[in-house]
Amino acid sequence: MKALILVGGFGTRLRPLTLSLPKPLVDFANKPMILHQIEALKEAGVDEVVLAINYQPEVMMRFLKDFEAKLGIKITCSQEREPMGTAGPLALARDKLVDGSGEPFFVLNSDVISEYPLKQMIAFHKSHGKEATIMVTKVEEPSKYGVVVMDDATGAVQRFVEKPQIFVGNKINAGIYLLSPQTVDRIELRPTSIEKEIFPAIAAEKQLFAMVLPGFWMDIGQPKDYITGLRLYLESIRRKSPEKLSIGAHVVGNVMIDPSARIGSGCLIGPDVAVGPDCVIEEGVRLSRCTVMRGAQIRKHSCVSGSIIGWHSKLGQWTRIENMTVLGEDVQVKDELYSNGGVVLPHKEIKTSILKPEIVM
Ligand code: GDD
Ligand code: MG
Repeated sequence: MKALILVGGFGTRLRPLTLSLPKPLVDFANKPMILHQIEALKEAGVDEVVLAINYQPEVMMRFLKDFEAKLGIKITCSQEREPMGTAGPLALARDKLVDGSGEPFFVLNSDVISEYPLKQMIAFHKSHGKEATIMVTKVEEPSKYGVVVMDDATGAVQRFVEKPQIFVGNKINAGIYLLSPQTVDRIELRPTSIEKEIFPAIAAEKQLFAMVLPGFWMDIGQPKDYITGLRLYLESIRRKSPEKLSIGAHVVGNVMIDPSARIGSGCLIGPDVAVGPDCVIEEGVRLSRCTVMRGAQIRKHSCVSGSIIGWHSKLGQWTRIENMTVLGEDVQVKDELYSNGGVVLPHKEIKTSILKPEIVM
């Protein structure tokens, strides 16, 4: 079975992290976002993943080469010369996706995180027997998504409205699709939107079905949602594979600490924290609702909450980092400083406190 992951866009809302790596390679719960998706696809029986890329394909492919062998899955790239939108890439990758077997294939947006019940999705797709299945989820603010109006009993989609101006419903497109080869026949080889042009047409022909996603879902393309997404993700790990979470006197709530990270005595870590590989957390540090990425160092008695510490950044002693602070790669913060919502570009040295949320260039 095959899958295509839409890996376009520049990830501007997740700067400064995306100044160092393409968004799908930014770590989430101690591994690159896209690996969460590739692992779920593999688990559901996918043996070839096509990455639809229009930006920095070399970086992605170099990185993923290692995982092809480790995961036993073929990863190829379909590169666009100009951004082809969310449907155009399917027409471009037609030869990779459609092989005459009539088998459906998965399509995923690359910036969402969920439990990926893909096997259940295959079963649902077979049970309705129509052209396309999309996963939907309920949200409180549907206007920034694609909204789906459906028959709750059968799953038949009556309308698909991308980014509606007026309220049409609160079930939204989760960015996880299972499509038949016929869907590709509908798509012209030009920049085009699956949400605006293709789904409304399939729905009008009563060939589009939706399944309500069991479990959590989050678009993690901006820092606030990334931090909320980590809480939901760790909560789901607690239920499904609690052995992946850390335990000990220094841990409260759901916490994932890479085994190679060093944690000093007298720390208190959690809830909702991820500490990546090779991090050094010295004595007496307090971490809550935050992510500390690979190779970062936090010196004695610092306190980090509701923030993201980028790869290889260094915090001095007695620092206080809070309120959606995002430190890019290799940022250094001097002893005793405070950051209230600072967004700091890679390789900066911070010598004075950041008193209100602002971008530090
Ligand atoms: N290859 C390629 N080329 N990928 C693209 C392009 C492109 O030109 N444009 C966007 N993408 C990718 C993005 O990287 C992302 O993975 C996906 O397509 C969706 O694009 P976004 O820009 O993130 O769209 P959105 O978040 O505003 O809305 C989409 O996602 C929502 C769920 O998060 C829509 O699919 C909505 O209907 C949906 O509710
Ligand atoms: Mg998005």
